[in-house]
Amino acid sequence: MSIDKCKLRIAVDGGAATGKSTISRLVAKKLGIKYINTGQMYRLFAFVSIKNNSLNDEKTLFNFLKKQNITFDEKGNIHSEKIKFNLKDLEQEAISKKSSIIASMPLIRSLATEIQIKIGKEKGVLLEGRDIGTVIMPDADFKFFIKVKPEIAAKRRFDQLKNIKDVSYESILEEIKKRNLRDENRKIAPLKPLKDSIIIDSSYQSIDEIVDFFIKEIESAK
Ligand code: C5P
Repeated sequence: MSIDKCKLRIAVDGGAATGKSTISRLVAKKLGIKYINTGQMYRLFAFVSIKNNSLNDEKTLFNFLKKQNITFDEKGNIHSEKIKFNLKDLEQEAISKKSSIIASMPLIRSLATEIQIKIGKEKGVLLEGRDIGTVIMPDADFKFFIKVKPEIAAKRRFDQLKNIKDVSYESILEEIKKRNLRDENRKIAPLKPLKDSIIIDSSYQSIDEIVDFFIKEIESAK
């Protein structure tokens, strides 16, 4: 295939702590296309619901969120002129857990899906998440699906966090397994590879090796 890299539309999906955000950012940079981390949207929704006790049922939260003009900015980061947050806030463990619970709510998902489908129609984008290949960009030029052994993902996360805060390997492992189980088994847009997904296991490969693999797959496509 003679490819115009700047016009590619790429879908990347995978479970928790697979390394997919780091890999996706690097791949998009190498190709010179925009990178969107769709999980940030569910994380922002979770942040809002944790901060506002009154937004504890799905309909109330939905009605609030739809008025907040939530979108992704030019750099591909989640943005809202009305909600005060910084991106670091969204990485907390409590947010990871809540975002996965919120992501299984149909009304909330419909809001995120509508915004992301619009962005996924642009040329020169890489979207990363759980339902990109299945729902957001089923006609993407490439669909990648990243897997990892939960024990290895938990060890990597534990090594990143152990000097920053008091965490245990076991609790991280349990949280990763729970989140994946919820994301894979929800009724709407469950996390799963497709027949035409390019599946890669990141358990025993470095980030650089996987990025190279992605680029080779893209460049060698006929
Ligand atoms: O990718 P990340 O871990 O930041 O995503 C947080 C949560 O958001 C996931 O556990 C998942 O439940 C949800 N999510 C989703 N669909 C996406 C992206 C994320 O359901 N496209």
